[in-house]
Amino acid sequence: MRPEELYERHKAALPEWISLYYEKPIELVRGEGFKVFDSEGNEYLDFFGGIVTTISGHAVPEIVEAVREQAGKIFHSSTLYLIEKQVELAEKLISLSPISGDQKVFFVGSGSEANEAAMLFATTYRSSSEIIALRSSYHGGSFGTMGITGQGSWRPTPRSALDVAYAMNPYHYRCPFCKHERGCTLACADDVRSVIETATTGHVAAFIAEPIQGVGGFIEAPPGYFERVKEILDETGILLISDEVQTAFGRTGDHFWGIEAFEVEPDLITMAKGLGNGLAIGAVMGRAEIIDSLSPKQHISTFGGNPISTAGALANLNYILENDLQRNAAEVGGYLKERLLKMAEEHPVVGEVRGRGLMLGVELVRPDGEPDPQAAVRFLEACRERGVLVGKGGIKANAIRISPPLTVTREAAKEAADVFEEVLSEVETKERVG
Ligand SMILES: Cc1ncc(COP(=O)(O)O)c(C=O)c1O
Repeated sequence: MRPEELYERHKAALPEWISLYYEKPIELVRGEGFKVFDSEGNEYLDFFGGIVTTISGHAVPEIVEAVREQAGKIFHSSTLYLIEKQVELAEKLISLSPISGDQKVFFVGSGSEANEAAMLFATTYRSSSEIIALRSSYHGGSFGTMGITGQGSWRPTPRSALDVAYAMNPYHYRCPFCKHERGCTLACADDVRSVIETATTGHVAAFIAEPIQGVGGFIEAPPGYFERVKEILDETGILLISDEVQTAFGRTGDHFWGIEAFEVEPDLITMAKGLGNGLAIGAVMGRAEIIDSLSPKQHISTFGGNPISTAGALANLNYILENDLQRNAAEVGGYLKERLLKMAEEHPVVGEVRGRGLMLGVELVRPDGEPDPQAAVRFLEACRERGVLVGKGGIKANAIRISPPLTVTREAAKEAADVFEEVLSEVETKERVG
């Protein structure tokens, strides 16, 4: 079916508010490693990976076979019965966890559900409904997680089941505190104390943050940020929840978990996206006493830890580890970041290049330094015309998000970088003309 025709049917049958990329939306019908193909036979380098999800790439034989084998046996049994792959996956995750001591894993179907469950565990364990989140964060699209999301555009309702206070997000590029003559003093971390003192009762259940804000535009916290925050949290026993839905499994290159870039141990970790390489699965992992704080039979997820998702996720995790995709993310990501930083020197439309490993952001700005969302729209469109798919994000939708599968080669990264360079000139030229 022609994409134009499918688009018309999409508009008629699906909600109006679902946003589609590109003036002429495309349908991706096949994938192969880090390449995808649309319904008209066009080939693309997939440098967004289905919103930072297809971490091992498309149609990976080992993962496909694991899913196929499981699908031929049993799709679903529910958590009322033992599921070997679920237990195996939990054990594997615990063996890779940066958290010490006894741990448990609870499986769900998505990142939002993982954060919902983390909120449930933390508030129960601490007997408190108070949560501190960060401005510009994104923790999900379910009712509860919208309430801990610090982006107005992703919060169609102001209501929340939780009592949430927002702290300053660590965003060096536009940080009012960093304009201080001493530069970064980690005042953003100290703001957490101020929020506790001024916007809560003092008895807060948890602080939740992404090690690199994903939807927020791949915003990295400065060195020392989480260490300083953890000290503040420890004063009153507030739990630290690391939302690793985008940053886990080696994506950030130097570390397996994003939070490991900092010398802190979270109490809970939430994950999804890359865990299933596209299969619908999410999980909360963390200190056993917190996850076990619910009373028996108080909670259930019908699809959580189902045989197909856990078989696929296990094969995916093994694939990541056996092929050392983390190292590839560090190497290819390092090359790509270097190229982007060089482009930033030559193209004033690039305000900042940031991120780690294969989670790289490029903030596009107008000549006066203000966010330039139009340039981001043009950038995406021009990249697609040249066969590269990237994403965008940020409160002002002016940050380009680059997150290919961790299997991407240096040659493909070079090809994409050459396209980015060409496109930046075009975006800039249009800027001057228009
Ligand atoms: C950091 C983070 N947490 C949670 C979520 C929600 O995950 P899902 O869309 O699978 O519900 C997302 C989704 O983008 C995310 O980026």
